[in-house]
This record gives sequence, C-alpha cells and structure tokens, in this order.
Amino acid sequence: MTLDFLGDLRRTHMCGDLRAENDGQEVVLLGWVNRRRDLGNVIFIDVRDRTGLTQLVFDKSENPALHEKASTLRSEFVIGAIGKVRRRGEKTINRNIPTGEIEVVASELRLLNESKQPPFLPSDPALANEEVRLKYRYIDLRREPMQYNIELRHKVALAIRQYLSSKGFFEIETPFMTRSTPEGARDYLVPSRVYPGEFYALPQSPQLFKQILMISGFDKYFQIVRCFRDEDLRADRQPEFTQIDLEMSFPQPDRVFEVVEGFLQAAFKAAAHELKTPFPRMSYDEAIRNYGIDKPDLRLPKLTDVRSAFTAEQLQSLQLNPELPVVAIRIPVIGDLSRKERDENRPLFGERKEARLIDDIKRLEKSFPEAVAKLREMSGAEASDLVVLVGAPAQMEKSATRPDYGVFMAAGALRVELARKYAQRHMAFHKGGFHFAWVTDFPMFEWDENEKRWNAAHHPFTSPHERDMDKLESDPGAVRALAYDVVLNGTELGSGSIRIHRQDIQSKIFRALGMSDEEARSRFGFFLEALEYGTPPHGGIALGLDRIVMILAGAESLREVIPFPKTAKAVDLMVDAPTPVSEAQLRELGIKIR
Ligand code: AMO
Repeated sequence: MTLDFLGDLRRTHMCGDLRAENDGQEVVLLGWVNRRRDLGNVIFIDVRDRTGLTQLVFDKSENPALHEKASTLRSEFVIGAIGKVRRRGEKTINRNIPTGEIEVVASELRLLNESKQPPFLPSDPALANEEVRLKYRYIDLRREPMQYNIELRHKVALAIRQYLSSKGFFEIETPFMTRSTPEGARDYLVPSRVYPGEFYALPQSPQLFKQILMISGFDKYFQIVRCFRDEDLRADRQPEFTQIDLEMSFPQPDRVFEVVEGFLQAAFKAAAHELKTPFPRMSYDEAIRNYGIDKPDLRLPKLTDVRSAFTAEQLQSLQLNPELPVVAIRIPVIGDLSRKERDENRPLFGERKEARLIDDIKRLEKSFPEAVAKLREMSGAEASDLVVLVGAPAQMEKSATRPDYGVFMAAGALRVELARKYAQRHMAFHKGGFHFAWVTDFPMFEWDENEKRWNAAHHPFTSPHERDMDKLESDPGAVRALAYDVVLNGTELGSGSIRIHRQDIQSKIFRALGMSDEEARSRFGFFLEALEYGTPPHGGIALGLDRIVMILAGAESLREVIPFPKTAKAVDLMVDAPTPVSEAQLRELGIKIR
C-alpha cells in the first residue's frame, strides 16, 4: 500500500470537536481509524484522536476513487481527511457521542501510516488480559478510559501545582542519585562506576532533603516527585510512584491540614467534584476504638464495644476475656445472608491469637436474647444489618502492647473484608462519595516483638508530643507523635509530621530506638550536622498522587492511572525490565553476579 505524506495538511479541529453549528464548514481531521463500516456504496470511517470520534463518509457515487481508497483502510491506520461537515438526518443521529449530530463528507484522504492487526482493539469494550495490555501498553493507552485517566492525572497534578504555587510554595527538585532514606522499605541501588563497590540509593522519599531546604530558609517547599521503594507490591503500591511532597517552616499541624485540604479541594474541583472542608479529625486512639484501623473507611458504621450487654457469666460461657472489649461489627444491607453464606465468611477472620470471632448475633439470639436486644440498641443495628461479634479469648498471653487494641483491630480488619466482599450489594458503601479524615496523634514507637525493641512508627525525624517528652525513656509505648495521616474511603492517601528540629531531642529519639550515636552518625550524619546550624521548627506531609487519581477515576489498581506501570512482580512488560546486563558492563562496575 502506498503511503501519503502529511504534506501541508493542517488540522482544523480535533476529532471530538465538531457539532451541528459547524454544518457546512470545510475541515481537516487527523487520527486513527477506530472502525470501518462498509455498506457497499457508502463507507463510514470513524476517525479517532484523544478527544473523541468523528464519522467520515465516503460515497462511491460521488467519488469512486476516494471510495476505493477508503475501502483499503483497517483498524488503527493513521489517516488525514479533508471534508465538509454535514448535519445528520434525524434518524441517523448518534446520541451516544458528542459529535453524533454531524458527519464529514470526505473530499480527500491521506493514508499516513498502516498498522499491524493489533492484539486487541482500543474500541473493543471487552478488556484484554492485563499482561497483554501491559505488553502493548501503547495500544492500551489509546483506549478511552485510559486516555481519560491520564488526562485526569494531568489535571489533578496541574491544579495542585497551581494551588501550592499560589500559596507561596516553591517546587524544588531533589536528587534521585542519593543515599538511603529513612522510610523503612528496601532501597533500589545504583552502582557507582567511579567508586567500585559503592552505591547510590534511589530515594524512597525526599524526606531529608526537604527538611534541609527548611534549614536553608526556603520556608515552603513542594515537589511532585517520583519515589522508589523495593517492597511487596499490592494494588495500591508500585515500586516507583509519585508523591505530592511538601514541607513548611514554623507550622502547627493545623497549617499543614489547611494546605492539604486546599490543594485536594482544587484537585477534586479539576475533576468536577466539590469537597467540603475541613475534613473530620480523630486521634489514632479514636480511630482504633471506632474503626479498628488507622485508615478508617467512614462510609460504613462504626464498631461498638458491647461488652456491657453481657453478664460476667455469659462472657465466661462464651469463653471470653471479661476485661477486654466485645466488639460489634455492623454491615448494613446484608443481614439476610444465609447460614451457609455466613459460615463461608468465617475464614475472612483468619487465625488470630489476640481475638476470637464469636458469631453473628442471629445465632446468639436464641441463647442470649436479652444481651442481643441490648447490643442491638447499643450499636444502632437495624434488622437488615449483619452484626458480627469479636472478643478476646479468655486465656490470653499478656503482650507488651495494648491488648484491647488487638480486639478492635481484628474486628476492624473483618469489617473491611466484609465490606469489600459485599460492596456491590451494599449500596450505602457502593454509592459512597469521598469521605476524608485526618488521623492524628499516632504512637511514636511500635514494639517489634521479633527484635524485642522499639521502632519508629513514622520515621525517626518525627517529633514527639511536647507533653510526652518526659516519657521517652520511662514509657516509650505511651509517647504520642505529632504525626498525622490523611485518609480517603479507607485508603491512606498521605502521611506527615512535625519534625524534630533540635539536636538534643533527635539524639534522645535515636537512643529510644536503640540506635547508638555511631550508628546514627553513620546513617544520617550529614543531616544531624545540618540540624545544628539553626534549624527552624518545621513539618510537612506527602500524599500519593497515584492513589488520589486512582480513587478519583474509580479504578481498582494504580496500574490504571500510571502510564507505564510495573506488574505485581515489579516487571515492566513493555520494555522488558529488569534485564541482565553485559559482562563488560558488570566488569566496569566491579560487580560479580553470585
Ligand atoms: P509515606 O511513606 O507514608 O511518607 O508515604 C506517603 C504517601 O505516599 C504513598 N505511597 C505509595 N504509593 C504508591 N506505591 C507505593 N509503594 C507507595 N508508598 C507510599 C502513599 C503514602 O501515604 N516522607 C514521608 C512523608 C512525610 O513525613 O512528609 C513519607 O514518604 O499515599
């Protein structure tokens, strides 16, 4: 097939632009053949670009040569067409597309490129298998939902940039080739050729650089920045992902919340959603007691401790620990599940030391009618709700940290599993909307049962509460951090904190973490030194851009909103990475593969 050159062909409209008022205009359209319908004497070609489709008409009786040329077109060929806009007759109007009132009667056709038969068609409503989609990502990205998601991503990022810039934040770049950052995942390493045996680390976040920018007096920093973490992947985790990272000098947490609420409002507005601010706030303790999780999904009813509905004897007969909560999980709409279905849900709870799945109250009703009536009232349960109880086993080992949290958290996990499983049936959950919350006052430290030591719950540069400073040595488990998360519909969108700006407190924290001065110096020496040169009080946060866009797009996976994502096994199927490298390259880097 002979191909034509683009020549002087200059686009007058995008393929989604034309309307009835363009009737009679001569136009030039450029794009891909989405579909060809051959009716014998007339051929219809839908030409597509990122804005939509326009129907081109080739009529044999008017222009046989052009009609002949149109008959050679196949899906995904690239064409240019000159033609005249014509209103469609009432009967042939296509109300499903914005250009459906018109068509373009072609007077010239240029075939700019052919296409092999693609493994799947962008216009095909059935979704190809994900591996094929990722291998042929360039075709997958031609699909309308992907074009929409990528445009959405652009709009959201742009709105955030504009908002932050208008509030006096500077976007400042920080290095990708750097040293290990304190976020707790594994690093991706880059070997140095000049210093064999030495490595740069790709940043897990710009954490220390942004703090140093505050020391340098930039006052307000942000960056829409790629971060790299070698960790187990899930639907909401990618090895490289994008953060909206920011830091401010002299803020209280409230100031950070205001800025984040402001840019989220701007971002959601760009996607045609109005957000109400301020977002509700709750402490970590409240989140655990009400939702059993630090990223509460506010679309569902809270948990309720209904222990007081039972007598001591009843708790004993249920083999429950009378000192710990009995937590009712209430899931609306699915109260009519059959006994079999309810039994099949038991494995969702899994095996746990700290908590027992007691039963759903339908089953308890016979033996404990009064208790069930009382607990229905306490939890506000309606007849159509499924209500399941979780308690603590009577015989329980004493653990170092809060055993009551263990019960709430077990209930919280089951609540999320049930809600996910029945999301389709459970309209209140399904309709949803956007429910944001701030979770504040996280514990400063987490006890590591294996290593028998305290770990930083956020990162070791997070400031403890001023009121809890005196407990750093005596009762680390009770120290609260000036750390906060922003949560949307049960997903953690972002995390941040007010930082430690004083060297003396920073040393105390390292000591509490069981880190010697030498170890702290060797890992973060440059930073500890910087802290000693007039560091202002400062704090900030980072939000996952990919997660925001995923939720806005109603997508189930980050892969739907990242143009070139990796699989759950951290592979890029399109470029085929990672790959082995040549012996010569390795030798140059002083590396031998074991
Ligand atoms: P954190 O580690 O909580 O905090 O990360 C902040 C946000 O980044 C997103 N995120 C991810 N998104 C996709 N894939 C991943 N693998 C991934 N990991 C994290 C999440 C998360 O809430 N330096 C601190 C922030 C600070 O203290 O200012 C930090 O990185 O949405």
